Amino acid sequence: MTNTGASRPILVTGATGNVGGAVARSLLGAGLPVRVAGTDVDRLRALFPPAEPVHLDLRRPGTFPAAVAGAGGLFLVRPPAIARVGPTLNALLDTAARAGAGPVVFASVTGADTNRVVPHHRVETHLRASGQAWTILRPGFFAQNLADAYREDIRSGDRIYVPAGSGRAAFIDVRDIGDVAAVVFRDPGAHRDTAYTLTGPEALSFAEVAALLSDNLGRRIRYQPASIPGYLRHLRRRRLPLLQCVVQTLLHAGLRRGQAAPVDPTLGRLLGRPPRTMAQYVSDQRGLWMSP
Ligand SMILES: NC(=O)c1ccc[n+]([C@@H]2O[C@H](COP(=O)([O-])OP(=O)(O)OC[C@H]3O[C@@H](n4cnc5c(N)ncnc54)[C@H](OP(=O)(O)O)[C@@H]3O)[C@@H](O)[C@H]2O)c1
Repeated sequence: MTNTGASRPILVTGATGNVGGAVARSLLGAGLPVRVAGTDVDRLRALFPPAEPVHLDLRRPGTFPAAVAGAGGLFLVRPPAIARVGPTLNALLDTAARAGAGPVVFASVTGADTNRVVPHHRVETHLRASGQAWTILRPGFFAQNLADAYREDIRSGDRIYVPAGSGRAAFIDVRDIGDVAAVVFRDPGAHRDTAYTLTGPEALSFAEVAALLSDNLGRRIRYQPASIPGYLRHLRRRRLPLLQCVVQTLLHAGLRRGQAAPVDPTLGRLLGRPPRTMAQYVSDQRGLWMSP
């Protein structure tokens, strides 16, 4: 089945962020009509000139009806700072269902089907019960964490500082998540009511990632394993909200136990090509970590 709502725009939330941004770019690249949503409409307009920008604040339900009106699909991302999903993401799903704005593709996280602690679990449960057509993407650890959470440590400190021990992660490039979203929205019926676990093609240790950075940047980047309290303090110094600091620390501690190491072949199967590697990501984005 092809996307019958193709003339209606697909509403992409979190479009100024990693995942939503990649999805908006891939959908536009596939020739699909896109409505980009977020709290900063001017920024959305500047980032995505061919798309229709719309104001959406997940903490203000009054912004929901206009955002979903006339949409022919919804790509939903949970912003890291939002833990209470009931009055925010789940309420948006209800508004979208009433407006007939599906199908819905939700960007979740690996293990969210069984892990009740992550907020994504409650969104998945709500979406599955909503009666709307849904597809859930459950990605593993992002390569883009190097551009985000670790960027300053690499750029100014020549180090990756995380409490991951010698754990490995099957890093996924979020550009591939965008490309999968385009595959799904081009033919939603083929992916209806299905959840996909998505990982990159190989599991790397942080020492190996540091070596890739060193090769590409022409200066030595080292991996300095952090202790759990040391990392918590490190994040707090950046003035991140406490809950976010705790969640990030726990996620990295999980890497020590190999939680993000399993490689899943689903991504390459959906894309019909090999997924992007960490080596490719670092080479493409090397300007991000040039010395200040
Ligand atoms: N990092 C990883 O390794 C990893 C792995 C698997 C899954 N995940 C999951 O992926 C998601 C994070 O994706 P990301 O990296 O794309 O996040 P991100 O880059 O931080 O982007 C978050 C987006 O949410 C938007 N946002 C924030 N507050 C909002 C609000 N009140 N109303 C509407 N929009 C709001 C932001 O836009 P504006 O502020 O401009 O509106 C931004 O576009 C999280 O759910 C995370 O758990 C992460």
